[in-house]
Amino acid sequence: MNHFLDLSTTDATDLRDMIDAARAMKTARDGRPRGARDDVQPLAGRMVALVFEKPSTRTRVSFDLGVRQMGGETMVLSGSEMQLGHGETIADTARVLSRYVDLIMIRTFEEAVLQEMAEHASVPVINGLTNRSHPCQIMADVMTYEEHRGPIAGRKVVWAGDGNNVCASFLHAAGQFGFDLTFTGPPQLDPEAAHVGFARDKGRSIVIERDPVRAVDGADLVVTDTWVSMHDSQSARERRHNLLRPYQVNAALMAQARPDALFMHCLPAHRGEEVTSQVMDGPQSVVFDEAENRLHAQKAVLRWCLGV
Ligand code: CP
Ligand code: NVA
Repeated sequence: MNHFLDLSTTDATDLRDMIDAARAMKTARDGRPRGARDDVQPLAGRMVALVFEKPSTRTRVSFDLGVRQMGGETMVLSGSEMQLGHGETIADTARVLSRYVDLIMIRTFEEAVLQEMAEHASVPVINGLTNRSHPCQIMADVMTYEEHRGPIAGRKVVWAGDGNNVCASFLHAAGQFGFDLTFTGPPQLDPEAAHVGFARDKGRSIVIERDPVRAVDGADLVVTDTWVSMHDSQSARERRHNLLRPYQVNAALMAQARPDALFMHCLPAHRGEEVTSQVMDGPQSVVFDEAENRLHAQKAVLRWCLGV
């Protein structure tokens, strides 16, 4: 049994195998209706709990669909409607859910909640996003990059904007998949030093460059995310917008990257804020491929967790 809590705590060889498995599973069901079952049904007889303490479109739909395609079943649970949201401890919730289901995917706020769930569950736990990281997203992003441009190892990725949870998982991925990353954003919103340190310790070049134009020079991939995450206070909205406005990904910025550079965004996007519609809908954007690949990448993660 394996928990999938972070890219930094999962073996790099296993991560690579999961990406390769995801691509093979995607190819195997090419052209089929979305709801059709896969030929192989490794999750037959398995029940998966999908617990959400924050909103979700992609994570919810892609996990639900992926489990079903592989023959399993799901229960989608809203944290606020569970006893979890009314004082029952995480540890007790983990023990109880482990008596009913074969795997727990949880999207929550504090990293400590995820850790406590994993510590007390007797079934695998998957991180579906916390305030600190979003590993499933970056599995889909690595898969997407490689589908379009081949191996990501040795490439230059530029993260523009907030050094948030998605940025953290990109830094972990830099270490595990062997690419370099330049962060460009205001110093107030730098990624945590631990995430930068993780990638550097693995020998990757991680650069902090305040000038976005200089940052994207030579970039193979430009990535951004919302300026205000689900865990950020709405009262900080204006301050964040003021800090992050110079880091908008627009056509002028993309023009400074390599001509074959791709653009990614985990979505949901705020058009006209962190990215313009021209870039989102332009030829370098692969944002909807990323969204689709959440499905395929997570199917590989589910199989790895269950060892099936
Ligand atoms: N990218 C992502 O995780 O989207 P949702 O919040 O819609 O799940
Ligand atoms: N950084 C964003 C990602 C959403 C998928 C958030 O945490 O709200």
